[in-house]
Amino acid sequence: MKFESEVVHAGDRKRVPGQMVPSTTPIHLGTTYFYDSAATLDRVLGDEEDGFCYSRYANPTNVALEELCTTLERGHGALATASGMAAIQIAFQAALIDRRHAVLASNSVYGATIGLLDQIFSPFEVQIAYVDICDIAAVEKAIRNQPPGCIFLESISNPLLRVGDMKKLAALAQSAGAALVVDNTFATPMLVRPLELGANIVVHSATKYLAGHGDVLGGVIVADQAHHQSIRMLSRIAGPVLGPFESYLTMRGIKTLALRYGRQCQNAFRLAEWLPAHPKVERVYYCSDPHHPDVLNIKQSFAPGLFGAILSFEIKDAIRDTVLRFMDRLKMVVPGTSLGDVHTLLLYPVMASHRDVSPKMRERMGIRENLVRVAAGIEAAEDIMADLDQALRSV
Ligand SMILES: Cc1ncc(COP(=O)(O)O)c(C=O)c1O
Repeated sequence: MKFESEVVHAGDRKRVPGQMVPSTTPIHLGTTYFYDSAATLDRVLGDEEDGFCYSRYANPTNVALEELCTTLERGHGALATASGMAAIQIAFQAALIDRRHAVLASNSVYGATIGLLDQIFSPFEVQIAYVDICDIAAVEKAIRNQPPGCIFLESISNPLLRVGDMKKLAALAQSAGAALVVDNTFATPMLVRPLELGANIVVHSATKYLAGHGDVLGGVIVADQAHHQSIRMLSRIAGPVLGPFESYLTMRGIKTLALRYGRQCQNAFRLAEWLPAHPKVERVYYCSDPHHPDVLNIKQSFAPGLFGAILSFEIKDAIRDTVLRFMDRLKMVVPGTSLGDVHTLLLYPVMASHRDVSPKMRERMGIRENLVRVAAGIEAAEDIMADLDQALRSV
């Protein structure tokens, strides 16, 4: 099946001879399951027979979503979690459980991921190091300095949209005995499939493109065979699982992922073509740029013809107050701190995603005070352009 069909069908409509088949997986709210014989329950609890016994271990609605995500990401198995951050936490624990307690992370990842490493893992004696993940020589040096048990990156970095050489990173991770964990939230499996490029574990904030409508907080971990059992074991004990209602909504969202994400990529492409000529725009960052520093990595890992649905741009001569005024003048585009919704969202990194990063560090990362990030929605591109244009001209 092609991706457009998989998003509609995978996980749903399992046929059991002689039983009715609901056309969409129902929301199973029951927390506890029993059978007509206690011996069956005993076998299910002991993992000797497939079945459900308690929703923290597995839930039929969640399992349908997990099967769908396993198919889309080409994994061995998946776990639906209560948030993207819960997914990342379990992924790190699964990666490190039987390896050196050291993480080598890209220095350009979501702020809360840095918080998770520095404030939650570091006090438990996990060594944390950061590196420019697009600089392979720097990655090799960092591995020599402190051999990691886990290498972590986002498939498209935020907000400057850098793309690492995932095949090379997977090879480096393997020879260092480390797991490669990739946050694929920005790309979705429609654009990038990290497991096919050699990664071991993929995480998503399902809150974004997968659910897609700004009404679900959730996460997903998809792993290879070597890591899936540890992930389920950790979750069974710690219990950061997604609720069945959110699972249903996420699955419902994914059914239109190909339509939504395809349109969002087209809209982002059109914005990236239009913005450079705007008199108030200094610079545009987008993955279709032929001068993008990671053009070869983009070619290697992106689905042909798509460049993602997020772009960033710098407003000419703008300081913080100018950017805040620009955001206040937006009439349709939502100035909110998220991405991946059907409506276009605009985020100011200095105020939101990189608020806790020192100005000096931001400067080093290339995140200037005049930079904004746009996550294109599915509206008419002309309307997005018209709104950005009127807001830009009024500041
Ligand atoms: C790339 C990325 N990963 C993970 C997360 C965390 O996801 P959640 O808010 O669902 O916990 C976010 C949230 O913005 C994100 O942008």
